[in-house]
Amino acid sequence: MDIREANPEDIKKVFEIEFSSFNSPYDPLILNYLYETHKKTFLVAYENDVIGYIVGIIDCSEGHIISLATDKSFRRKKVGTLLVENLLKIFKENGVKKVKLEVRKRNTTAQNLYEKLGFFKAKELPRYYENGEDGILMMKHLEGKV
Ligand SMILES: CC(C)(COP(=O)(O)OP(=O)(O)OC[C@H]1O[C@@H](n2cnc3c(N)ncnc32)[C@H](O)[C@@H]1OP(=O)(O)O)[C@@H](O)C(=O)NCCC(=O)NCCS
Repeated sequence: MDIREANPEDIKKVFEIEFSSFNSPYDPLILNYLYETHKKTFLVAYENDVIGYIVGIIDCSEGHIISLATDKSFRRKKVGTLLVENLLKIFKENGVKKVKLEVRKRNTTAQNLYEKLGFFKAKELPRYYENGEDGILMMKHLEGKV
């Protein structure tokens, strides 16, 4: 499996994974905009086809993980972990000192993944999502080895 920057041919499969992974997926227009504006931090996991992706943005010295998903048939094989680790490396190379993300409170799967990678729960975000669900702000300080 290869982790690399997404290319235009990958984006259709990214949409498919996004749509099958989230109840409220990002509009393809937004994902496309993120791809066009943040190519260095829009990564895919590739094994014959796209099997996962991660989108991050850098704002000054802060990194923000916007979306992460693994194709359902490839879950629990460390694809998500590798995507986050690769994005953290790019963040670090670009001077990022801390990374944040928002996750649904009931999404303990993703929280487990992030905690294993050194993220901590920084703050509860009551009714953060448009359907009224609570969120959690998770953060990681990037120091030393990623
Ligand atoms: C969250 C997601 C990206 C994880 O991807 P993945 O490739 O399966 O993750 P990994 O194989 O790297 O798992 C790493 C760790 O995460 C945790 N984890 C992953 N899947 C889990 C599950 N079904 N239940 C509990 N913990 C889980 C475990 O701690 C796992 O480590 P382990 O397998 O050694 O126990 C994937 O489940 C997904 O796409 N979910 C839907 C979209 C989503 O919730 N994205 C995150 C939004 S913030």
